[in-house]
Amino acid sequence: MRCYLISEQDGHFERGVVDYEPSPTSSDDVEIEVEYSGLNFKDALVARPKSNVRRLPRLVGGVDAAGIVLNSTDASVAVGTRVVALGGDLGVRRDGGFAPLLFAPPSLVNVLPDSISTRDAMVIGTAGVTAMASILALEHHGLPAGAEVLVTGATGGVGSLAVSLLHARGYSPVASTGSTHESAWLRELGASEVIGRDDIADRPDRMLASERWAGAIDCVGGDTLHQILRSLRYGAAVAASGLVASAELHTNVYPFITRSVALLGIDTVEMSASLRVKVWRELGNLAPRLNFDPLVDSTIDLQGLDGALDTIAQGSTRGRIIVVPK
Ligand SMILES: NC(=O)c1ccc[n+]([C@@H]2O[C@H](COP(=O)([O-])OP(=O)(O)OC[C@H]3O[C@@H](n4cnc5c(N)ncnc54)[C@H](OP(=O)(O)O)[C@@H]3O)[C@@H](O)[C@H]2O)c1
Repeated sequence: MRCYLISEQDGHFERGVVDYEPSPTSSDDVEIEVEYSGLNFKDALVARPKSNVRRLPRLVGGVDAAGIVLNSTDASVAVGTRVVALGGDLGVRRDGGFAPLLFAPPSLVNVLPDSISTRDAMVIGTAGVTAMASILALEHHGLPAGAEVLVTGATGGVGSLAVSLLHARGYSPVASTGSTHESAWLRELGASEVIGRDDIADRPDRMLASERWAGAIDCVGGDTLHQILRSLRYGAAVAASGLVASAELHTNVYPFITRSVALLGIDTVEMSASLRVKVWRELGNLAPRLNFDPLVDSTIDLQGLDGALDTIAQGSTRGRIIVVPK
């Protein structure tokens, strides 16, 4: 069958659509007919030469997939069920979703709520799971109902899903973006306000900025995360998931010791089974209030992946890219 394979052997890097047969790595694996996959920033990190994210010399890319169960020995995932599979080693250390067939361990497979189609599951994808997990973490920390929440990298996958989900849950998302020409689109998703990337840097002459945010969802990292920490309100938190600007964080302890703020780490790769179930249940509850179509940047087939992987690596996508594995 036609699959999108990434291979690097003896210093020779190749990626593209080839004939390949995915196979199970364990007798427990759930066999899934992939109807849709989706593109994440991580896929671009996997699909480049000398990647330190890819852990196999040769594999099918794609950290996300959604489809129908063809075979399963796991009682919780019956044959014929609509499921989503993401995270763990998928598309990193074992074959992923850029193929018509996927074998995934049961721990990475979730049955989809009735309100979420397999296509919409891939509009959500790892990006939306990250955004939902960020909201749950902020709520657990005490985010006040209806609060204004800052979202950085707002036009990207995590950012645009965060804006949409926060709005659907009754919050007031403020979208920070380097793509202010997308302001109308961000407002359509539910942003109450759109600000520039640099507008969150306030009072650079002081250790602390004015107390502005009741909560924040950050997938940018670097100086952006530092600026958020120094502008959180007393007792507020930021949920941090990404590093598109930088993996470095240079900051000081004043926000923590004088404003009691919290830095909450978000990870979807090793996320517990119970949190996965909770995240998809909450997504299922919000789905009827979400408008999925504006979140889709484009829908591509496997041949379109070369260009799309370059686009997401440059940080110039808007929302989500959906992949039909043909
Ligand atoms: N922890 C986890 O489990 C987890 C899960 C998913 C993703 N992530 C991470 O989250 C990050 C975002 O992933 P994604 O899939 O949403 O990526 P994406 O679709 O490419 O979105 C990233 C967005 O960040 C902004 N951006 C890009 N380059 C930037 C720069 N140099 N400085 C400041 N902002 C920049 C852009 O938005 P604007 O133009 O609107 O500013 C861009 O659209 C990545 O680092 C990814 O690895 C982590």
